[in-house]
Amino acid sequence: MSQTIQTLSHIHRFVPGSANDEAPLLLLHGTGGDENDLLGLGAALAPGVALLSPRGQVLEKGMPRFFRRLAEGVFDEADVVARAGALARFVDEARDRYGLAAPVAVGFSNGANIAAALLMGEPAVLAGAVLIRPMVPLAAPPRFDLEGKPVLILSGAGDPIVPAENARRLAAILEEGGAELRHEVLPVGHGLTQMDLTLARRWLEASGL
Ligand code: MLT
Repeated sequence: MSQTIQTLSHIHRFVPGSANDEAPLLLLHGTGGDENDLLGLGAALAPGVALLSPRGQVLEKGMPRFFRRLAEGVFDEADVVARAGALARFVDEARDRYGLAAPVAVGFSNGANIAAALLMGEPAVLAGAVLIRPMVPLAAPPRFDLEGKPVLILSGAGDPIVPAENARRLAAILEEGGAELRHEVLPVGHGLTQMDLTLARRWLEASGL
């Protein structure tokens, strides 16, 4: 099993792949998670692909996150932009170090929100993205061009954190920015479920990433 690695700009874990023709997964955890959290999900989603899993660099009462927030669902947008830039540089470093193609982000909650910010601010960094329970990370996003990159949004109809309108707005912004977008609203809450895994796995297979 891989070890937590302290070099490069973000603490991370890297699991080498055996399926070298498939894009690696960039795993982005939720608030209070770390670089270990989504390795099992990544391996289940795309067996044999390389997994790159950084730890968010912000601490909120000891809980790692990928950017600062002022309250639940209220983001420090300057920090969102800066942290998305830093994460993009980490992906570049890791691609060099490990010899990787552009990754597909798989983000949950806060990790999905930084992945959405990456798509908007650093659209060249990702080959695609699976965003699980994301919200709009920037009220006034920059102009960006995703050039048909595949993006899957998985929302929860009973999510107490993400209003349905907010998830729909994110889908519209990404589609407007050129993403090949699919948005599924599942009969679930904010937490990760088996349905997310099944849908994301099928979508990854079908999208040819
Ligand atoms: C966020 O802060 O990114 C969202 O509120 C999701 C969360 O992490 O709870």
